Formats: sequence, structure tokens, C-alpha cells
Amino acid sequence: MEINNSLLLLLLHLCFALILTNTASSTKEDPSVIISRFQQYLQINTSQPTPDYNKAIQFLISQAKSLSLDHQTIEFVKNKPLLLLKWQGSDPTLPSILLYSHTDVVPSEQDKWTYHPFSAHLDSAGKIYARGSQDMKCVSMQYLEAIRKLKATGFQPVRSVYLSFAPDEEIGGHDGAEKFADSDVFKSLNVGIILDEGLASPSEEYSAFYAERSPWWLVIKAKGAPGHGAKLYDNSAMENLLKSIEIVRRFRASQFDMVKTGLKAEGEVISVNMAFLKAGTPSPTGFVMNLQPSEAEAGFDVRVPPTANAEALERRIAEEWAPVSRNMTFEFKQKASIHDKFGKPILTATDSSNPWWSLLEEAVKNANGKLGKPSIFPASIDARYFRERGLPAIGFSPMANTPILLHDHNEFLNQAEYLKGINIYESIIKAYASYVQHTKDESSRDELPSNGASMNPVRTLGPAIAANNFKAIWVYLTAPILGALCGAGTFSAVKPPEEDNATTHEKHSTAGSFRR
Ligand SMILES: *[C@@H]1O[C@H](CO)[C@@H](O)[C@H](O)[C@H]1NC(C)=O
Ligand SMILES: *[C@@H]1O[C@H](CO)[C@@H](O)[C@H](O)[C@H]1NC(C)=O
Ligand SMILES: *[C@@H]1O[C@H](CO)[C@@H](O)[C@H](O)[C@H]1NC(C)=O
Repeated sequence: MEINNSLLLLLLHLCFALILTNTASSTKEDPSVIISRFQQYLQINTSQPTPDYNKAIQFLISQAKSLSLDHQTIEFVKNKPLLLLKWQGSDPTLPSILLYSHTDVVPSEQDKWTYHPFSAHLDSAGKIYARGSQDMKCVSMQYLEAIRKLKATGFQPVRSVYLSFAPDEEIGGHDGAEKFADSDVFKSLNVGIILDEGLASPSEEYSAFYAERSPWWLVIKAKGAPGHGAKLYDNSAMENLLKSIEIVRRFRASQFDMVKTGLKAEGEVISVNMAFLKAGTPSPTGFVMNLQPSEAEAGFDVRVPPTANAEALERRIAEEWAPVSRNMTFEFKQKASIHDKFGKPILTATDSSNPWWSLLEEAVKNANGKLGKPSIFPASIDARYFRERGLPAIGFSPMANTPILLHDHNEFLNQAEYLKGINIYESIIKAYASYVQHTKDESSRDELPSNGASMNPVRTLGPAIAANNFKAIWVYLTAPILGALCGAGTFSAVKPPEEDNATTHEKHSTAGSFRR
């Protein structure tokens, strides 16, 4: 008996020694290897309008395989693949985490770049130059690298973690995120929180976004009596349109002033910019000059934050910008609602009512990162398709000390920032994936964003669908026994945070900022 016991003890010691050395060596992966994987992904030309999606997906699948993540490729539209990866959680009844990113990038004017946009050139200062280095191949790879590190420590998620790599964000996401958010596959994932892209931050504080501004593409049209170019008379189409343009410009200035004086952030005001002016009677040499035309129109790109009063703006457009009394009409080429399908403003709470926000704040802090005041993204990102459904989504790309160069020439990201971002995601994913409510029955209610998604049937049906469906969809991998031991050995190191109280203390100071 004694011999057996000491033998067992010896074996156990050996086993733990093995685990420890394994863990130590794999968490200390040579950074150049990590950077080189990032460069490989950056070198794939996924530029619109002819992105090489296949090559990107093949590369990402090879990464998924090296991480033993389940993978599934879905084509909602032919040749526009969306890759879905799954890291199975131990409790599939809990809503899952979706780490979202897109695979396409905007075109680049190669001759304006110092290095070829798909060379992923690493200069002596550590800057990696490539189209997509900020928007948003960095994030895609950081998610994967963070999971690689977590797996190396033996971390086991409680909630399932999904990663989706979607096509076509840069051209509106209609064949990517929009169809995905609408799909049965998405419903079956029972997603509780989505992380999507943010922006680089020139300061040492990371930017985070809790909402987007909705595009209203407005065209106003004036009609009036035509007349000789020499005659002064009232109510010509041009005069009527110009009156409107003056009014619109005054409104624009009043909004912009609030940004200039620091009263509001860029995303908190309604922006209006003229996109086109169309009038005149064409002639072979240009325009007929001695004729005042009978029609004139102007187009505006209007961006409306979810905190704005949409009805008041619509009234303003009808009564001041294009009034019938001035013989004017208007139409919207696009008018995205600022309300979700439950009639609530499309925004993700950033106060104690949203545990996902508190967890993110805490996780960034734990990884030695600084988080700036959350704001409204000035334009649109794919997250809107999920937010529209009442789901919480946070826009976050961990790039501090970095100029905002998305869509610009010589887009780059410093390798040190990239590596730091991996640690930030490691901390976030760990916190999110191990987040459990103290009362499980209440979990789905407690997790609701404060925007009233409680009527969302997805939340109620989701777990059941997920539990039944995934056995069929996904191939389950049995972890080797040593892996299980590893997990047990390191569990105490990756203990979930004190979630119950993390969500109730320190009401975020900026919670009311967007209500100003
Ligand atoms: C990317 O690929 C497209 C399609 O093959 C091509 O037209 C474009 O020039 C490439 N871009 C660069 C920067 O190489
Ligand atoms: C509107 O059109 C009518 C009919 O052409 C015209 O009599 C009237 O003066 C116009 N009013 C304005 C403000 O342009
Ligand atoms: C939160 O903390 C307080 C005081 O530290 C404690 O009394 C309470 O039970 C905690 N809440 C939960 C849900 O654990």
C-alpha cells in the first residue's frame, strides 16, 4: 500500500511538473512567431470589390484547426463565405459570447503607400504596414491569439465562445452580417453579447463604442417658375433650394459648435453634410446661362445618434428644410431607424445595468489597459444588425497610442500595441466566458441589456435550440485526459471574477453623458 501511494504521488508530481513546463513554454511563445501569423493574414488581398475570401477563410481555418476550434463555413450568398468558429463552453444553456470581425478591407491606392499595402512590412520602429492592419484584421487575429494563450493556460470557458469572420462589411454588410443576424444559425447560437470593431486611439486610453449613428440619406427638391436669367423674381427653384440650404447650414453649424466647444462628442450630435447639388439646364458647352431652371435638388448625408429626437428632426425636415409652402419635397434614399425592433433607442448600456460593460471595464484594467469614456461611433459598423435585434454590442479595437488610419494611406499598427491587444482580449474573453450569475434561473433576465430585449424570443428559445442542434452541427472533440488534468490544475488561476458585485458597484460616471 505504501509503495503504491508513493508511486502515485510521484506520478502526480511528474504529471504536474509536465503541466507546468508545458504551460510555461506555451505561454511564452516567441512574439515574432505571433507577429508573423498576423503578417500572413495581412498579406491576403481581401480588398473590395474583389476580395480573395477563399484564401482568407482557408488561412483562418488553419488557425482554427491549430486551436482545436470547431469550424463551419456558411455562404448566405455564393462566394461570400462567413466563417464561424466555436469554443464549446461547459454550460451550453448560458447565452454565448460572439467575437465578431469582418474579413474584407477597403481598396488602397498602392502608389501612395510607402510599402505595398499587402506586404505587411515591419519597419525598424515596429510598425506593421498593411491595409487592414487597423480595420480590422488585427482584431480577428487578436481574438485567435488570445484564445491560443487561454488554451495554453488550460482555461475552460463556461459560456460558449463563437468567432465569426464575415464578408462585405466595407460595402454595407448586406450579404454578410445582415443575413447572418437574420439566420437560424445565428438564433441557434443564443448570443448574449457581441464584440465588434472600434477605432484606434491616439491617446493612451482605448476607445470603446456603445452605439452608432444611423444614416439618413436625404434628398430635397425644389420646384419653381422658370424664367429669364436677367429677371429678378421670387420663388424660383434655385432661390427656394438656396433658402433651405442656408437653413440646413445653420443647423449644421449649431451641431458642430457643440463638438467644437467640447459640449458633445462627435458621435453625439446630428451631422449633416451636403453630398450633391443638382440643377441647371444642360447645353452642349455646359449649362444654359440665361435661364433660371424650374427644378433644383440637393442631397445630404445626415447621421443621427440614437439619443436624438427623431420625430423632431423629421418635423424640422418637413417644416424647415423642405416645406411644402416653398414648393419643396423630400425623400430618403436611406433611413436607418434609431430604434430597435422593440422601439427602444439602439444603444448598449454602459452603466451597471449591463454586466458585460462592467466586465469589459474590469478586464481591460486587469490587463493594464486604460479605457476611455465610451462614445457613439460616428459612422456605421456591422454591429448595428445585432443591436437592431435588441442585443448588446460593444465596439472595441484595442489600439492605443495609434493614429486613426482606417481607410487611409499607410495604415499601420505597431507590433507592441498589437501584442498588448492580445493580452487585453485574453482578459476580456476569460472574464466573459467564465461569467455566471449567482441565480441561474434569473440569468437570462439579469443579462438583458437595459434596452428592453426581454421580449426577445431568441433568448428564451435559444438555449433549447442550441442544446438540441449543436450535437448535429458540430463535431465534438474529446479532450485528452491530460488536458482535463491541466484544466483542473490551473483552474484556480483562472477563477471567474466576483461577478455579482462587479455589476452593482460604481455606476459608470459617463452613463448619462449622451443625454446632455
Ligand atoms: C488586390 O486584388 C485585386 C483583384 O485581384 C487587384 O485588382 C488589386 O490590385 C489588388 N490590390 C493590391 C494592392 O495588390
Ligand atoms: C409654389 O408654386 C405655385 C404654383 O406654381 C406658385 O403659385 C407659388 O408662388 C409657389 N410658391 C413658392 C413659395 O414658391
Ligand atoms: C456583494 O457584496 C456585499 C458586501 O460586500 C455582500 O453582502 C453581498 O452578499 C454581495 N452580493 C452578492 C450577490 O454576492
